[in-house]
Amino acid sequence: MPSDLFSLAGRVALVTGASRGLGLAMAEALAQHGAHVVINGRDAATLETAAAPMRAAGLSVETLAVDVGDVPATQAAIDALAAKHGRLDILICNAGIQHRKPLPEWQMQDWERIIHINLSACFAMAQAAARHMVARKHGRIIMTGSVMSVLARPTVHGYVAAKSGLWGLTRSLAAELGQQGVTVNCIAPGFFKTEMNEAILANPEFVAWVEGRTPLKRWAEPREIGGAAVFLAADAGSYVNGHLLAVDGGMISVV
Ligand code: GCO
Repeated sequence: MPSDLFSLAGRVALVTGASRGLGLAMAEALAQHGAHVVINGRDAATLETAAAPMRAAGLSVETLAVDVGDVPATQAAIDALAAKHGRLDILICNAGIQHRKPLPEWQMQDWERIIHINLSACFAMAQAAARHMVARKHGRIIMTGSVMSVLARPTVHGYVAAKSGLWGLTRSLAAELGQQGVTVNCIAPGFFKTEMNEAILANPEFVAWVEGRTPLKRWAEPREIGGAAVFLAADAGSYVNGHLLAVDGGMISVV
């Protein structure tokens, strides 16, 4: 009798930044395990393009075009989703941006934009989602952190600060929401072949450095992130709370 530890049947999930890359991969994995998944992005047409093959595969998916940087609109959209479905079980705060510049070239608006999208928006979404999850004494909030939640490299100051903050926010939310049946965890991806990383993937020296620095000696494929999301979202992860789950080929464990 196969266990249903990883079944998400009957669960409603919202995944932000799910038009492509890691967000779409996590959304697909949740849907393949039975969840009804709402994929979020800024552009409705792009979302429909992403949803089409999922629907063709018989997966339960809908789209939600809202810019997570618009906090009032996003919080209202979360309330509307919970009202429409009568529940919101899983929130994956995945939407994020990157900015790579030597320190002297950073402008304050670059810093503020990165912190707003990659950290403040996640706080606002978690606050909105938690209201609905606590009411039903069940929920799963999953942050997409990064190896840069615990490591750093030059030029990505805003990203490292935001992803480090996201790991801290994960712990504070886990501390408060755990007693109300809501777990909060942080997935920390290593270096994945995604659109966000196109610029560094085009740099052979950087590609080689990642391969050398990673015990698995390779970059990750987006599909390799899905299992971590399913584990944390499902009953299999019911006693995992406040955890940083690295999906990084071993990078943060070695020098
Ligand atoms: C970079 C990359 C990293 C990402 C990595 C893991 O420029 O260093 O974008 O910061 O965090 O892909 O998430």
